[in-house]
Formats: sequence, structure tokens, C-alpha cells
Amino acid sequence: MASTVNSPPTTGILPNSSLQTPFLPKTSQLSIFKKKKPFTFASRKVVSCKASNGSQNNEHSSSPNRFDRRDVLLGLGSVYGATNLVMDPFALAAPVSSPDLDLCEKATVASKSAGTMKVACCPPKSAKIIDFKPPKFSKIRYRPAAQSVDPEYLDKFTKAMELMKALPMDDPRSFMQQANVHCAYCNGAYDNGDPSHELQVHFSWLFFPFHRLYLYFYERILGNLIGDPNFAMPFWNWDAPRGMPIPEIYVDPNSPLYDEKRNVDHQPPKLADLDYSVEEDLSKRDQIKSNLSVMYRQMVTNKTATLFLGKPYRAGEKSSPGAGSIEQSPHTDIHKWVGDQRETYKEDMGNFYSAGRDPLFYAHHCNVDRMWNIWKSLPGKKRRDFTDTDWLDSSFLFYDENANLVRAKVRDALDTKTLGYDYQKVNIPWLKNKPTPRRPGKASAKGQAKAAETNNTTVIRNVFPIVLDKLVRVEVPRPKKSRTKLEKEDEEEVLVLQNIQLDRDVGVKFNVYINDEDDETPTGPEDSEFAGSFSNIPHNQNKAGVKLDTSLTLPISDLLEDLDVEGDDNILVTLVPKEGKGLVSIGNIKIEYIRE
Ligand code: C2O
Repeated sequence: MASTVNSPPTTGILPNSSLQTPFLPKTSQLSIFKKKKPFTFASRKVVSCKASNGSQNNEHSSSPNRFDRRDVLLGLGSVYGATNLVMDPFALAAPVSSPDLDLCEKATVASKSAGTMKVACCPPKSAKIIDFKPPKFSKIRYRPAAQSVDPEYLDKFTKAMELMKALPMDDPRSFMQQANVHCAYCNGAYDNGDPSHELQVHFSWLFFPFHRLYLYFYERILGNLIGDPNFAMPFWNWDAPRGMPIPEIYVDPNSPLYDEKRNVDHQPPKLADLDYSVEEDLSKRDQIKSNLSVMYRQMVTNKTATLFLGKPYRAGEKSSPGAGSIEQSPHTDIHKWVGDQRETYKEDMGNFYSAGRDPLFYAHHCNVDRMWNIWKSLPGKKRRDFTDTDWLDSSFLFYDENANLVRAKVRDALDTKTLGYDYQKVNIPWLKNKPTPRRPGKASAKGQAKAAETNNTTVIRNVFPIVLDKLVRVEVPRPKKSRTKLEKEDEEEVLVLQNIQLDRDVGVKFNVYINDEDDETPTGPEDSEFAGSFSNIPHNQNKAGVKLDTSLTLPISDLLEDLDVEGDDNILVTLVPKEGKGLVSIGNIKIEYIRE
């Protein structure tokens, strides 16, 4: 075993250092660490011997040693000083802790053409942190659909935004400070001295709860400013045809809801493109169809917690293991669709650091948040939140309406009714928009692979990593076929694209199709063949030069059924780069079966 310690191993697993251990264990199964700072994000680094477990792909959840190791860690207290160790992200499970504001550093924003810029977006410090308590309220407040608010509501909302914008810059409740919350959590301001482990709230199971809590405090601040604790923010109802354009209330240049840094070509009545990458001039009808199909795929087909909410991300692990369905699309696509192409870093919505500077951001995220509620209410046994305490106890810091610094946990965010709000009930049109096979009849992978070989516009590649510089087809073997209904209910067949690597500061989008026809470029989300897409919003450049290394997991049980190819040994996967050709590589593609 020859490996090295990448950085000073530390952990904050113990709030005090009373536990000391008199010896250094010899066995390589043991993890060794030093207590440095109590409970901070980056202080959760753990080292242990990776080579000892004999498996590179040791899944955290299946590791038989997980709990043993944790016990050992607890007993070890403050030991430090081992060599021949390597970071093992699975050695210790722990929730991601709220960041240490004292160690907050300037965030970075980067682009290939304009270089890197530093942005000061750390929040004001506070001597005291209060633990979140669910609010007391007399009635549930309902967030309304932004396209149908009345003038009285609009008055209130604009007044609140005006007041927020008028607060002094150093007030943590001010408009810019609130926008900076997003900047700090998303552009690498919180790495607590370890650039290779920066905190990131996207591309993982932290996405939904972080944004829910962020909006919650934002709404409370607005309500407080106008003396109305029942004030509820509007949601941008982009999942229904009438709500698809940017809501009118946001486009009046004299309103505090306006932001000039938006794509000028995407003003109402233009409909948002929920599968946006490059301009595609679809008719209104086709755009609606495409959008509703995206919604069906992401909400209905993605039936389990990791598929919908995102992959586990624990303290000490590399961030960004994999986004859930809605985060990936349409969430990211809409950010990019709104962002101003003329701006260097695609501000405001088109970059994480600046997204919170557009009032539309909060309406966009209210609808994302609404999807979490709707997803849990759809039929299906597996539409439940995680029960893993590493998720439930992950925490974040926000300033509340009284400018107190509050630590809130994921477990505080599970039920909007506990937080005092819900969403106005509106029509959900996409429930009936199930994509259909592009062509009737069976399109077998074998036939297509053969045809593709003889077709000079496409290449079948099976050598990884694949740099996605053009349309690529890959034949992927299926470990199981013709499963029974029960087996399918029990385990979802998923297509996993592993080690998707790219620089964080580039815009990338590619679509994934299965068993698509060989002779032409695939069409869109309205076809059963469309399995999903990967998309990145440009954000920071990692200080340690660590690339974004994430994954994409797409459920395909239903697709295979719809395409009538459940008996096939292989599926043909087609990857179509739409944006950022050649800037992303894929480490491997395989089929797995997940049960949750
Ligand atoms: Cu934190 Cu919509 O991004």
C-alpha cells in the first residue's frame, strides 16, 4: 500500500476532544484523524487506507465496515500523524455541516475567454448562531402562480422588494447580501482551507433542501419588511403553458422585480425552453409539447429518492456526486435560458454567483420547490424523502428576518406546511404527457448498431473515456433482461454515466437517447427514446484545479417497455452534444439496478 496523505487529516466528528486514544492502530482498516475545529464543513476530512478494502467501487452504503469504522473513529479522538494514507471518501459517514463563516473566502467566477474574477460574497459574521425552530403561524400562506397575481398582491410584493433593495449593504437581509448567499454556497467560497473539498449545494441531495430553506428565509424577510407575516412569494409556473413565458410582473423596467441582465430574445410572450441549450425555433405548439414531455420524464419516470433528489453527498466527500432529475432539467436549462448572453459570465441567472441578483430567481426556485411537494404526492411507493441521517442532519446557515444567524438542517425542510407555507393549486398538465416511441415498431439495439457501423455520420465507441465532441453511440450490455413486473417494481433499471468531467466554468449540455434510429439526429423529449440530459451552469473554477466530476443516472425501465425492447441483450445509447462540444468527457456508461 503506497499512498499519501493529500492534506492534513482532520475531523470534527467530536464536539469536544475529551476522547483520547493512547495508541495508533496498526490495522489498515482504521481511519486516523485529528480534531482541529469543531463541526465545520471542511474539517470532516478523513483519511483511511483505501487499498485495504480491495474494491475501487466500494459503495458507501454497501460497505460492511461503515459502522465499524465510525465506531473506531469515535474512539480515536485526536490522533494524528499517520503516513501511507489516502483519502477515502467512504470511510466515514457524516452529514455536511454548515460552513464556518470565519473561514469564508472570496468566491471565484471564471470563463474561458475572460479569465477568473474574485467576488466578495461572504456573509457578515455573527457571534451567535441560533438553531432553527419551526415558526408559529395562525394560517398557511399560499404561494401564488406569478402569472395570475392581482394588483393588490403585486403592490405588496413590489413594496417588499423595494424595501429589501433599500436596506444598507451590510445588512444581512439586504438584496445583495441575500443574493450573495447563493454565490457563497455555489462558487467555492466555503472550502474552509481545503480547496479540493469546497462546499457545493448543487449536483447532490442537498439541492432541494438548501434552496427551500434559502427561499423560506427570503420570504420571511420580505414579509417582515412590509409587516405581513403571511406574505408568500410567487412561483413561476413554467410547467404549465400559460406560465411558460417570464411572468409579466418581472419585465416592467420600472419595477424592483426587473433585471436588465436577461436574454433580450427571451422576453414574453416567448415560451421558456425546458430543454434549452441552443436556440431552436420551435412553434409554440411544439415548444409546449417538448416542455410537458420534459416534465413528465423528470417527475413521473424518476420515481426514487436518488433519482429525484440527487445522490448522497456526505462530509469529507468530493462534492457534486450527481444531480436529481429536476435539478438537471428543467432547473438548469431555465437558468441558462434567462441568463444574458451578452454578459461575460452570462449574468445574472446564467451563473451561480449572480443568479440571486435576479428577482426572477426566487420565482423560478419556488416552482422547483413546488415540484418536490408534487413529486411526493404522485402515486408510487418509492416517492419518499431519504431517511438517512447524514442527509437529515446536513445543515446550512442563513440570516432570518430579525438579522439573526440561524442554523437550519435538512430535516427542518421536509414539510412546507411545518414551515407555514404551501402552493396555490393549479392545473398540472404534464401528467398526461407521456413521451411516445418515435417510430412504431421495434427498434433493436442490434439492428441499429449494425446500421450505425455502416453509416459514416456516426461512430460506435466503446473505449472510455469518451470526449463528447460529436454525436456518439455506445452499445451497453444489460446484465438482466425480460424482468417480471414485480422485479421491475422492486428495482429500477438505470443507465449510469459515470465520471462526467468538465471544468465548472463552462456551459455544457448533452442529451441521452436509447435505441434511437440510426439514420438521423434524434429529435427531442417528446420521444420515448429521450432518456434525459446533462447540463452545467457555468460557475467557479476550483482553486485546486479540481474538475467537476459528477454522474448522471437515468431510469430506463419504462422506456424499454415503451420501446418494446425488454428482451434485448444490449441497448444502444446515443449521446448528442448540444453545447460545449469537446469540453466534457464521460468515464464509463453502464446499466445498474437500484432499489430504494
Ligand atoms: Cu442554486 Cu437554481 O440554483
